[in-house]
Amino acid sequence: MTKVLIATEKPFAAQAVSEIKAVLDTAGFEYSFFEKYNGQDEFIGAVKDADALIIRSDKVTTEVIAAAPQLKIVVRAGAGYDNVDLNAATAANVIVMNTPGQNSNAVAELALGMMVYQARNHFNGASGTELKGKKLGIHAYGNVGRYVANIAKGFGMEVYAYDPFVRKEDIEKDGVIVKDSVEELYSNCDYISLHIPANEQTKESINYGLLSKMKKGATLVNTARKEVINENDLVRVFEENESFKYLSDIAPGNKDLLEEKFTGRCFFTPKKMGAQTAEANINAGIAAAKQIIAFINDGNTTFKVN
Ligand code: 3PG
Repeated sequence: MTKVLIATEKPFAAQAVSEIKAVLDTAGFEYSFFEKYNGQDEFIGAVKDADALIIRSDKVTTEVIAAAPQLKIVVRAGAGYDNVDLNAATAANVIVMNTPGQNSNAVAELALGMMVYQARNHFNGASGTELKGKKLGIHAYGNVGRYVANIAKGFGMEVYAYDPFVRKEDIEKDGVIVKDSVEELYSNCDYISLHIPANEQTKESINYGLLSKMKKGATLVNTARKEVINENDLVRVFEENESFKYLSDIAPGNKDLLEEKFTGRCFFTPKKMGAQTAEANINAGIAAAKQIIAFINDGNTTFKVN
């Protein structure tokens, strides 16, 4: 019988857990939940009997894969799979998938929520500003970017986007203005919302060259990955652009310094919260379980990323 290990250091909502169980029960798969574990050693110790893994931001390293000799498939219940060593998985004949789009609305709502929080001075009682009429630049127009655009239009924002991998006409049909270069996007907008993945090309790519182009008092919102930011350059921009603001769902390495030096101009969630809604957990968790069943029973490899 196929054994599925749902390894989530940051657990799914209770309702998602019961719905994932129901899907796996119906298929006759065995499963166990391994939640809130303490570090990689515990994770490595838990995978030895697993045929399939469902994970979130949990790190699937060479060591995890080596400790799971029966492993056939890993499904990242979510979008970004930078936490999975794809080369190690491929070398061990392990299929890796993600569940694109399933948690995107939750991340987009958080991005706009953080913008409101900043525009209203962290709800400290002082007069703030409105999002209406402000220019929002969406850096990468994938599933989350598209939801952000849609919600932002509801706020009355002017929405721009830059994404060299998406056809201009596909972005324009959403009523979004396409910028031909990333520099143009950054220099034109009051808010920039980041939705690029973390990979070798994007690592630290949000650097001084780009950030220094942002308007006076502009706000950068990061619900993507901390690795894409050059954190030293970020400090320099905070110093030079005296009303620049940075909001992130992934606390930077220099969080304490930023919070101390630039109080009121930055905000970091205590833990990555973008996809932490019941709806997103249910959508992504069920999709992951169904993808495992379809692969084991029928060899279906839709959403394979390696
Ligand atoms: C994703 O890539 O899907 C999001 O960053 C959500 O990550 P999480 O499942 O760890 O909350």
